[in-house]
Amino acid sequence: MKPAALTWAVGLALAAVGACRRPQPGDPLPGLSAAQRDRFTQGRAVFDSTFTPATGLGPLFNADGCKECHETPVSGGTGDEVERHATAFHPGGPGRPCDELAAEGGPVFQKRVTPALHAALNIDSEPVSPHATAIAARTTPVILGFGLLDAVPDSVILSYADPDDRNGDGISGRPNRFFDGRLGRFGRKALVPTLREFNEGALSAEMGITSPAVPNEETVGGRPLPAGTDPAPDPELSQEATDQLDAFVRLLAPPAAQQLTSEARRGREAFARVGCPGCHVPALRTGDSPIAALRHREVAAYTDLLLHDMGPQLADICLGLATPSEFRTEPLMGVRLKSEFLHDARAKTLEQAIELHAGEAAGPRDRFLGLPAGDRAALVAFLKTL
Ligand code: HEC
Ligand code: HEC
Repeated sequence: MKPAALTWAVGLALAAVGACRRPQPGDPLPGLSAAQRDRFTQGRAVFDSTFTPATGLGPLFNADGCKECHETPVSGGTGDEVERHATAFHPGGPGRPCDELAAEGGPVFQKRVTPALHAALNIDSEPVSPHATAIAARTTPVILGFGLLDAVPDSVILSYADPDDRNGDGISGRPNRFFDGRLGRFGRKALVPTLREFNEGALSAEMGITSPAVPNEETVGGRPLPAGTDPAPDPELSQEATDQLDAFVRLLAPPAAQQLTSEARRGREAFARVGCPGCHVPALRTGDSPIAALRHREVAAYTDLLLHDMGPQLADICLGLATPSEFRTEPLMGVRLKSEFLHDARAKTLEQAIELHAGEAAGPRDRFLGLPAGDRAALVAFLKTL
C-alpha cells in the first residue's frame, strides 16, 4: 500500500474502533450535540472544583466539592464519605408524623465548619437537634445515568405502586411525595422530585454554597450565622455555573451493559425467579425531554423508584411520607462500581446486602437463601455486571 492509502486505512480502522467503543464510566451520554458536550465539559469543571471560604464554602459543610464524595472510579461515582441526617418521627400525633427538623438545621447536620465559624462559636460540626428521634448514616451513591431517571414520567413510576398489595405478592411499594405534593424520586428516601432540585440542594447542604434557587445559607441548629462568618456574597454560585453543573450530572451516561457470561446469564434468570424484579424493575422508559439523548430511552435502572418497608433492622429516619423502615428501591445500575452496600454501608458484600433485606423483601430474600450455592453465586455474578 502507498503511504497515503495506508494512512487512510488506519484512519478507517480507528474510526471503526471509536464507533464500537463502549462508553466508560464518566463518559457523557452517546448522541449529544457538540453544544451539549461542551456544557457537559464545563459542568464537570464545576463538579470537580474545590471550594474555599473565599469562593463560598461553608460556614457549615460536609465536603469542599461534589467530587470529594462522588469520586470513585470517576466524578459522579461513589466515595467513602458518610454523612449524618436526623429527623423526628411522631406517628399518631397531631400534624405530619415526620418532622425534618428544618427549623433546627435538619435534616442534614453538617460535620465540618470553616475556621471563621469555629472561631465564632467554638464548634467543629453542626450540633444535632436534641429533638431528633433517629440519626442516620448515609453513604455516597453512584449517580451515573441519573438524568435518565429524571426523565421517567411520573405515570411510569406510579404504575408500579401497589400500596395495598392487591396482587398479594407481599410487595406493596408506594410513592413518596415532596411537601408540595409532587412525586419524589431522588435520595435514599425518594423525597426530592427533580434532579435539578437535588443538585441545587446538594450545593447548599453538602458545601454551604448558595445559588439563585437556594439563595440563603443554612442556619446553625436553627440559629442565624454569627456576623462575619460568611464572607462570600450570595449567590455564591452563578446561575450559569449552576446550570453547567446540572448539565454535567444530567448527561452522565449510565455504566455500559457488560457482556454476560453463561454464569451471569443463569444469575439473571435466578434474579427474576426469586422475585427481585418486584422492586428492582430491570428497565424503565423515559418520556419526552428537550434533550434527544434522554427522550424515549430504556434505562437499565433496576429500581421502581418507590418506597418499600424493609423491616426494623434497616430502619433509621423518616423523611416526607417515608417512615423509618421505608427506603426507595436502590437502583442497581452501577452497583458493580461499589464496594460497600446499603444506605449506611453496613453490607460489605452483595450476599450480605441481600441477606439484610427484610419486610416486603423477605420472600425474595428467603428464596435467594434457599437456592443451591451455584445459583446464588451466579446471581451475584450477574449483579457484578450491572
Ligand atoms: C459529603 C459528601 C457529598 C457531597 C459533597 C455531595 N454529595 Fe451527592 N450525595 C451524597 C449522599 C450521602 C447522597 C445520598 C443522600 C440520601 O441518601 O438521601 C447523595 C446523593 C446525591 C444525588 C441523588 C442520588 C440518588 O440516589 O437519588 C445526586 C443527584 C447528588 N448526590 C449530586 C451531588 C452534586 C451535584 C453534588 C455537588 C453539588 C453533590 N452531590 C455533593 C454525598 C455527597
Ligand atoms: C421489597 C422490595 C425489594 C425487593 C423484593 C428486593 N430489594 Fe434489593 N433493595 C431494596 C431496597 C429498598 C434497597 C435499599 C435498602 C437500603 O439501602 O437500606 C435495596 C438494596 C439492594 C442492594 C444494595 C444496593 C446498594 O447499592 O447498596 C442490592 C445488591 C439488592 N438490593 C439486591 C437485591 C436482590 C438480589 C434481590 C432479590 C433477591 C432484591 N434486592 C430484592 C428493595 C428490594
